Amino acid sequence: MKNFASLIQNRRSTRRFTEQLLSPEQVASILRAALMAPSSKHKNPWQFVVVEDKEMLSQLSHCKPHGATFLAGCALAVVVLANVMESDVWIEDASIAAIYMQLQAEDLGLGSCWCQIRNRQDADGQDAAQYVRSLLHIPYQLEVLSVIGFGYKARPNTPLDEEQLLWEKVHLGHYQLPSDTTNTEV
Ligand SMILES: Cc1cc2nc3c(=O)[nH]c(=O)nc-3n(C[C@H](O)[C@H](O)[C@H](O)COP(=O)(O)O)c2cc1C
Repeated sequence: MKNFASLIQNRRSTRRFTEQLLSPEQVASILRAALMAPSSKHKNPWQFVVVEDKEMLSQLSHCKPHGATFLAGCALAVVVLANVMESDVWIEDASIAAIYMQLQAEDLGLGSCWCQIRNRQDADGQDAAQYVRSLLHIPYQLEVLSVIGFGYKARPNTPLDEEQLLWEKVHLGHYQLPSDTTNTEV
């Protein structure tokens, strides 16, 4: 296991994967991370659909015209769902579970990428969430947040560049307008 600082620096979106399948232990480890994610009032409003079937992965890759193609080449996709009746902050809860899975994958030396579904349309202008719902028989009360694709990285990630971090987004003590040059020394 890497230390956390290097884990988050090395986690980059992976959209090209080898053909190698994940072991049942690796899949379980990724799902375990999701189930360990914190949620508001501990309501755990999320649900996860695990997809490893190549034909289904290919169909998922058509859920929207851009940014989903990589799903066809991954070994595993986890569809992240949440019950909107169970939590008013389901987006936050489900997003945290999703990033937990991505960080766990990185820790296992695997690649992953988020495919946004909520608020996206398929090629016919129809709701991408509805496309995914029909494909996987997901009941209407469950919203589809995203599909996270996982697999062995086809090439190593380029770690995030420390020099490129947007430290100007961090405000010390009080919010500072970009023009406010007083008190900007860290
Ligand atoms: C909420 C969210 C939605 C995203 N949606 C997509 C997507 O639909 N397709 C895709 O290829 N990448 C998607 N990404 C990955 C981002 O493009 C990526 O995280 C960003 O460009 C930063 O690159 P990095 O992950 O390599 O650091 C998404 C990431 C987030 C957090």
